[in-house]
Amino acid sequence: MKSSAPGKIILFGEHAVVYGRPALAVPVTQVHADVEVTASSRNGIWIDAPDINLHAEVNTLPSDHPIASVIHNFLFISRISPFPNLDIKITSTIPVASGLGSGAAVTVALTRALLSHLDYPMPDEGINSFAYEIEKLHHGTPSGIDNTVVTYAKPVYFIKGQPIETFSVGNPFTIVIGNTGVSAPTKESVADVRKLWEADQAKWEGMFDKVGTIAKEARKAIESGKAKVLGKLMNQNHTLLQEMTVSSPELDNLVSAVLNAGAAGAKLSGGGRGGNMIALVEKEKAPVISEALLSAGATRTIITTV
Ligand code: PMV
Repeated sequence: MKSSAPGKIILFGEHAVVYGRPALAVPVTQVHADVEVTASSRNGIWIDAPDINLHAEVNTLPSDHPIASVIHNFLFISRISPFPNLDIKITSTIPVASGLGSGAAVTVALTRALLSHLDYPMPDEGINSFAYEIEKLHHGTPSGIDNTVVTYAKPVYFIKGQPIETFSVGNPFTIVIGNTGVSAPTKESVADVRKLWEADQAKWEGMFDKVGTIAKEARKAIESGKAKVLGKLMNQNHTLLQEMTVSSPELDNLVSAVLNAGAAGAKLSGGGRGGNMIALVEKEKAPVISEALLSAGATRTIITTV
């Protein structure tokens, strides 16, 4: 059985979302994780993940290995015993540690492929909460936005702990995603923000409130098709992320490059200090902006329409 899950990108609200403020994120279907589960003639559960050069029986992997932990936890919750012999092929075009939700996408695609192969029905809510438990094992205190967008593959207006809320898009708009090539240390940046918040809660709650207001306004602007407002909101959100200490020289450099090349707005996306930034652009300008990013040092760009 085969299953696929898309990447995702956060448009507004990262970090503040961990503290209960709303954030907006959308699936990025240009990149995806794909998993195929078939019956095996060998004993055990064999993983073949050529992209990361992994070819192993699951019990030979450390139990906290991201792929092994999905399978061990799946075995535990499914209570299927004895578990059948399986060959599991995993491929992904989603760059890792870049804020595109690669981990969540592998978890969701793998879980769905196992469920279909084993004829074990599970609603999306179940898959989403299972994927959230896996995210928590690897990412400290995640908000749950990654697994939610990836599971439902829809634009999401996300508030931690609340039922999924999707949003409509009044007028499609174009985003160019630029990768700094620097691996984003999300667990670390989330932990650092927590320390800073603990040291001065009043100041940080104020910053999170500002981000939350931006996310709410952005939703209104997207739903009513006002892309111009959206660009300004992106710039304001980026300034707040800089104040939160989660930007980096590489991210700021790409953000300046796209603004100089005529983007309507830009910001870092995801955990920050590396990974991706996004730029709001007029559709016709997307190739020029993408070129500007590559000249400024981006290792990869993706043009996507929301
Ligand atoms: O780096 P990403 O895209 O996985 O996103 C991290 C987003 C944060 O808000 C920083 C953390 C979270 O769990 O929401």
